Amino acid sequence: MRTQVAIIGAGPAGLLLGQLLHQVGIDTVILERKSRDYVLARIRAGVLEQGTVGLLDQVGASARLHAEGLPHHGVDLLFGEQRHRVALDRLTGGKHVTIYGQTEVTRDLMDQRAAQGAATIFEAEDVEPHGFDGAQPFVTYREGGTSKRLDCYVIAGCDGYHGISRASVPSEALRIFERVYPFGWLGLLADVPPVSDELIYARSERGFALCSMRSHTRSRYYIQCRQDEHVDDWSDTRFWDELRRRLDPATAAALTTGPSLEKSIAPLRSFVAEPMRFGRLFLAGDAAHIVPPTGAKGLNLAASDVHYLFEALRELFLDKSEAGIDAYSHKALARVWKAERFSWWLTSLMHQFPEQSPFEQRMQQAELDYLVSSEHAMAALAENYVGLPY
Ligand code: APR
Ligand code: PHB
Repeated sequence: MRTQVAIIGAGPAGLLLGQLLHQVGIDTVILERKSRDYVLARIRAGVLEQGTVGLLDQVGASARLHAEGLPHHGVDLLFGEQRHRVALDRLTGGKHVTIYGQTEVTRDLMDQRAAQGAATIFEAEDVEPHGFDGAQPFVTYREGGTSKRLDCYVIAGCDGYHGISRASVPSEALRIFERVYPFGWLGLLADVPPVSDELIYARSERGFALCSMRSHTRSRYYIQCRQDEHVDDWSDTRFWDELRRRLDPATAAALTTGPSLEKSIAPLRSFVAEPMRFGRLFLAGDAAHIVPPTGAKGLNLAASDVHYLFEALRELFLDKSEAGIDAYSHKALARVWKAERFSWWLTSLMHQFPEQSPFEQRMQQAELDYLVSSEHAMAALAENYVGLPY
């Protein structure tokens, strides 16, 4: 089999890239290790920057997002038992974010791709990129026990943090930057109305908490937990009790609880692999970088990478120019590092660290007090939260 661009991974990065390329007549095949149902059962974050929505508009996969997504014009910071609103729209000249689950973005892109008859091979086993240091790369895989080969001009590694693409690059060609945080997030999804119309990021002495949502009737809550904690030790009652203790009394009293649909623990990590291009192999999304979820940047960064990669590949295939692919890694990384900085900063500001000294505690409190008293500091937060331009 032959295609122009072999895409490894059918997460949001791979699917969005596939749709952008399809629109300009560039042929793609997506190879995905898991089944469609497995991919669509993964619960991920749900805050979309306007740039991400714009890309979904560009490929025509945003009808449901506009019908069901919730525009949010502010977020709350809660500390010292007080809620402080960050007026995203006023502080950024009218920008906002949209609450719409990443799982739904993935479903919309998959449905559109299937309707257009573009090839996605699910349950592709032992996917392996080859020859990307030359002009004739190819990908091998097994489908239903049969070995297959996909020839292409370019390989897009959109296969997430644990994927094969980055792992196929010789380690001496990669530079890794990493921070692992000494805690995790325990998340709970429930069909209960959200406690507030907007998201609440809470710093308390018992640890961080986040009140988020998927709709007016479905809530997503998180609490900071120890890294070595087991989800089985957290009954729903224990979760709700702990969440209440991290909120101010009025918000805690307003909380509607109910049985969990899902509960899981995620580690927190900052990670960047440089560069994002190796000959004819290009990394995009979680394959190249991870952010802690505090800034809600994971999916949005995957989208901006894909925007840069799409523009570069369009230049390569349609204008026969390599200038775009030569600039890809540099352009994408410039935005990646800014989002890494924001996610690290907000994580450091809002969490309790195990070894934190009383001095560091006071520094966190002072920074939060300064933040909410300064229009300039609030504007810096807001402009990063809604997403830097690209
Ligand atoms: N072969 C084929 N597919 C693979 C392989 C492999 N060896 N390894 C992983 N995959 C698939 C995964 O099953 C997954 O469907 O690649 C896909 C990667 O998708 P994501 O992990 O969702 O990564 P990405 O598309 O970059 O999305 C960005 O935003 O909110 C964040 O981390 C969150 O997933 C999110 C990300
Ligand atoms: C979520 O709704 O899952 C969510 C929202 C905001 C974040 C992280 C996760 O910062």
